[in-house]
Amino acid sequence: MNPTTFQIKSFGCQMNVYDGERMAELLQAQGMSPAADREEADLVVLNTCHIREKAAGKAYSDVGRLRREDGSKPLVALAGCVAQAEGAEAKRRSPLIDIVVGPQAYHRLPEMIAAASRGARPVDTDMPATAKFDALPARRRAAPSAFLTVQEGCDKFCTYCVVPYTRGAEISRSWDAIVAEARQLADAGAREIVLLGQNVNAWSDGPRGLAQLIRTLAGVHGVDRIRYTTSHPTDMSDDLIAAHGEVPELMPYLHLPVQSGSNRILKAMNRSHTVETYLAVLEKMRAARPDVALSGDFIVGFPGETEADFEATLSLVDEVGYAAAYSFKYSPRPGTPAAVMEDQIPREIMDDRLQRLQARINEHQLAFNRSTVGMNSQILIERRGRREGQMIGRSPWLQSVHVETSAKPGDIVDVTLLSAGPNSMMGAERQKVAA
Ligand code: SAH
Ligand code: SF4
Ligand code: F3S
Repeated sequence: MNPTTFQIKSFGCQMNVYDGERMAELLQAQGMSPAADREEADLVVLNTCHIREKAAGKAYSDVGRLRREDGSKPLVALAGCVAQAEGAEAKRRSPLIDIVVGPQAYHRLPEMIAAASRGARPVDTDMPATAKFDALPARRRAAPSAFLTVQEGCDKFCTYCVVPYTRGAEISRSWDAIVAEARQLADAGAREIVLLGQNVNAWSDGPRGLAQLIRTLAGVHGVDRIRYTTSHPTDMSDDLIAAHGEVPELMPYLHLPVQSGSNRILKAMNRSHTVETYLAVLEKMRAARPDVALSGDFIVGFPGETEADFEATLSLVDEVGYAAAYSFKYSPRPGTPAAVMEDQIPREIMDDRLQRLQARINEHQLAFNRSTVGMNSQILIERRGRREGQMIGRSPWLQSVHVETSAKPGDIVDVTLLSAGPNSMMGAERQKVAA
């Protein structure tokens, strides 16, 4: 029997969230509808992430939990990066899985669902360049802040990372396709567009780069804010940095992963930048946009990391003064060069370093948030807060701000930032001055 209701659960990065939204739209265009809860769903899609050990394990245990008390189960599709990495092996690891579909093949879900309904167990992990985007329905729904994938895949091959294997080689979507999708999202209510790519600043269409795309998107009616993520330090062009000083819609925020503060470790990671070249990029960015909030990613416990290497990472965190940062324990990924390197770091040392790094990052986050107290800022309202009359939105610096207001999601309100916590701010709406 063909399924009529579905549920999609996305793990991992923002691109997976985007893919999940597009799969939902595709299934709805086929006449299926979202299920009220998982027990009701005829089809469950687990849109998985492979970046670290726990994420994949979590996905398999989630598959296991889909068997219902009466012994029945929904049709189960394993999607995302675990599906890409495991391929047909996933069906052997779990007999509950009916469909295995990689991140570049999900536009073929309708045929795969039809085949699975007839008892087949289809696997599709092909990587046709941008075919999926052409085959997906137009955007008709959008949150106030909407994701838009412009670039996929990675050619950098950092020695610890699975992304080049699960998302494939770097490809850019066409200028026209992106501008058309941005218009659809704005028409559907988005006020902020977040451009996504594994190396988003490597996006190009002929001679045109991300900076030109951003300048054009800033002119799309209804688009008030633009962000982009994730960037690679070596692809940060002067033009893109300059755009931060020139395009008011481009938010003063840059997520630029560095991974380590030790050049020896960066070399072993095959990062094509050094601490010095990374800092030079940030310096240029601050010259172009002095109030920019900086964010980054870090890995602790990469093979061979000494206490001195780790302390260099702490020093870098102090030197940059991040407004936000994400840190992870190194996780050996099967098939990557780092997984077979000597000198793997014991778990206790990784735990200790992660704790110390996170404590340091938290101090800087709080310091950044405190430095904005007293400022007037504009908040894009995204959702209701916990208290009656309270809404939560984002400042230009991506801080989460709680404010009492009658404004609705999608409104931009003027607030004064009143107080700071490590992870959020309190703000007060400013009286509208009569004209
Ligand atoms: N394309 C982006 C993001 C890649 S994945 C980039 O190049 O920065 C997001 C983050 O996960 C990475 O920045 C890195 O900090 C972390 N990560 C990737 N592989 C990892 C691994 N094997 N173990 C631990 N963290 C990892
Ligand atoms: Fe992974 Fe490195 Fe590519 Fe980022 S740049 S996706 S960390 S290989
Ligand atoms: Fe995870 Fe794949 Fe994104 S591995 S981080 S879902 S690109």
